[in-house]
Amino acid sequence: MSFLCQPVSRAFSSSALRSSVFKHVTVIGGGLMGAGIAQVAASTGHTVTLVDVSEDVLKKTVKGIEGSLQRVAKKKFADKPEAGEEFVRKVLQSISTSTDAASAAQTSDLVLEAIVENLQVKQELFGRLDKLAPVHTIFASNTSSLPIMDIASSTSRLDRFGGLHFFNPVPMMKLVEVVGTSATSQETFDSLLNFSKALGKTPVSCKDTPGFIVNRLLVPYMMEAIRLHERGHGSKEDIDVAMKLGAGYPMGPFELCDYVGLDTMKFIIDGWSANNPADPLFAQSELLNGLVAEGKLGKKTGEGFYKYK
Ligand code: NAI
Repeated sequence: MSFLCQPVSRAFSSSALRSSVFKHVTVIGGGLMGAGIAQVAASTGHTVTLVDVSEDVLKKTVKGIEGSLQRVAKKKFADKPEAGEEFVRKVLQSISTSTDAASAAQTSDLVLEAIVENLQVKQELFGRLDKLAPVHTIFASNTSSLPIMDIASSTSRLDRFGGLHFFNPVPMMKLVEVVGTSATSQETFDSLLNFSKALGKTPVSCKDTPGFIVNRLLVPYMMEAIRLHERGHGSKEDIDVAMKLGAGYPMGPFELCDYVGLDTMKFIIDGWSANNPADPLFAQSELLNGLVAEGKLGKKTGEGFYKYK
């Protein structure tokens, strides 16, 4: 892995902003996604401040990043363990942690949010940061299912607000969906595209529509697999085998549901069906709702559609 050392102007004239890949990035939320984003940003020459609610969470997050980097180093520097250690040390050095989002935002070119998927909580966060962050700072959300415009509406920088939707696990998955709202400026959108490329990712341009591209196609497919099974038209095992061998998918839809988390699936489909009650693609499933009510959320709880040891 190479370190990109992009010359970025600290003065941030508007032309510098247009061509810049951000230098200092604040990632808010050190969970599954935030940790991965921070790792990749730090591995590609950015300095990163990682923010979460407590020192305990941050300690665990940094430990997780260190483990992940060591796995990368083991592969990348198989014959040169010392170079691997140096790589891990350098990347970790580029990551600082904080429980104070406001002060982190004050020195950031990009504030990228990956906190809990709750509109009010995201709005409260961005509304607060908007008053404190420098004018040039761009805000972005990693939300999977909420309209970017609804989150951005809590700020006065609608032109400097967009979506950066990463995929799990972030260090492995190449895609980033870059989302522009009707108010996102071209300059901001281009900066987010360039930043995604600087991370070594492949960006695609998306509109601020439910699920952007990937989830808009994937979630209705997974929901239809569940409904097909509910109608008695196939066992979950057969449906999974069919889609793997017949469509060449690496996982069947039930395996994928368990991997994503059934609570996450329900959360997404609840939001979409509330906004589009007549759309059969967003129809609810009793089977999914029942499993979530029983706390069977997939791999993370040891049971979802399947049981895990
Ligand atoms: P997570 O639950 O693993 O992590 C969320 C983190 O945010 C936690 O560490 C929590 O302590 C922290 N947090 C919550 N409120 C906070 C606040 N006000 N200030 C600072 N930190 C706060 O969640 P995960 O899975 O990382 O998801 C984060 C976001 O990314 C969500 O919006 C989700 O929809 C989105 N996303 C999730 C994907 C996934 O596969 N899990 C894929 C793509 C996007």
